[in-house]
Amino acid sequence: MTVSQQVFLRDAMRRLNLTRDVFAARIGVKRRALDTWLLPEGSQEFRTMPEVVSRFVTEIVQNEGLLQKYAQSAQSGPLRDRIAYHGKHQLLSVDQFTRESVEDLFRIADQMQPIARRQKVSRVLEGAVLGNLFFEASTRTRVSFGAAFCRLGGSVCDTTGFTFSSMAKGESIYDTSRVMSGYVDAMVIRHPEKGSVAEFAQATNIPVVNGGDGPGEHPSQALLDLYTILTEFSRLGKLLDGAHIALVGDLKYGRTVHSLIKLLALYRGLKFTLIAPHGLEMPEYILEETGKHGHTIIQSSSLEEGLVGADVIYATRVQKERFAAEELEGYTPDFQVNKAIIDKCCGPDVIVMHPLPRDSREGAHDLSVDLNHDTRLAIFRQTDNGIPVRMAIFAVLLGVEGLVQHSLRDVTWSPPSHIGPDDSILHDMD
Ligand code: NCD
Repeated sequence: MTVSQQVFLRDAMRRLNLTRDVFAARIGVKRRALDTWLLPEGSQEFRTMPEVVSRFVTEIVQNEGLLQKYAQSAQSGPLRDRIAYHGKHQLLSVDQFTRESVEDLFRIADQMQPIARRQKVSRVLEGAVLGNLFFEASTRTRVSFGAAFCRLGGSVCDTTGFTFSSMAKGESIYDTSRVMSGYVDAMVIRHPEKGSVAEFAQATNIPVVNGGDGPGEHPSQALLDLYTILTEFSRLGKLLDGAHIALVGDLKYGRTVHSLIKLLALYRGLKFTLIAPHGLEMPEYILEETGKHGHTIIQSSSLEEGLVGADVIYATRVQKERFAAEELEGYTPDFQVNKAIIDKCCGPDVIVMHPLPRDSREGAHDLSVDLNHDTRLAIFRQTDNGIPVRMAIFAVLLGVEGLVQHSLRDVTWSPPSHIGPDDSILHDMD
């Protein structure tokens, strides 16, 4: 087996679209045994699966994959060609993905986990330089893209804000993009105007990634959100098809939810409950697009009604910096996602997500900190997943994903076993 046991089994379950329970029954093993085979290799409970199981799983995946393969033959070829944007290796929108290509990307993200978890190092991008151009506030997106590139052996050059860039001197997007292309091998761009990153992308042939274009899209965030949902569901024994997803907050200006709902719409039979304060509802064009896939969409302005029975709660911040005529200062107290409302409306296996940053100022009533020690809160597992997913994006766009597995070496330093002092016992336990 060229990939790790964990990557192999997770990929098999995804391809067969089976929960852990059903998969365990299908291959005739106990769920507890499967759980130990699915742990990261370094962990205490990890066990190696018997060779016969590995052969059996390979056979099932090959047989069942055959039909799918024929159906997909039109879209075969390297992943970066299948997700290309107008023939270029760029990531501007989640519209570039199908369910198959997104799951192929996640298989690569799984392979990146030992690097993201600081057990292994790789230098497949040695010599490559990333230009991180952020014309809007950012902490996690800018740093995690940079860290992901560095962890593959590349280096990063940054510029932050308009003030310190030549755009403050009136330089056009075209000129900036073309100039940067002479200096770096890939660019991540965040800009306050919708459509602006596509404009950057037109002026270059190097890979461009949209790190957020105003209220438009945030594709890498949606990819890491979906990866988190699938990973958490795998642990919980749930399938995404048929799940109930509640998106909460400023759905009008929140670009993460715009990308996420489109990506989730690639799955089957979902129920979306969209809970927004009056005036901040999801834009019509996104509702229309999602509706075409036959999902159930319910709009509500009551948190208490909307959260009932949800499998995922995805809360968001008020995007005040994008307000035009809106007056809202923060959410009203009855709109705050907190422990009391989750205990009242949802089961023990709901997962609570947020793209972060959450606004912790008084009066904002963003996602409450009273869930910080609750294992249902997945926000830091979510941010951690930003690294393997962004590494996978770079590896694919730069065409090195096939080199990663054989490039892995052990780390030379000793990272702490838990990177966060309050990390739940579920951390690193997929
Ligand atoms: C989000 C963004 O910038 O769109 N943050 C992020 O990238 N994780 C959400 C926000 O700013 O509220």
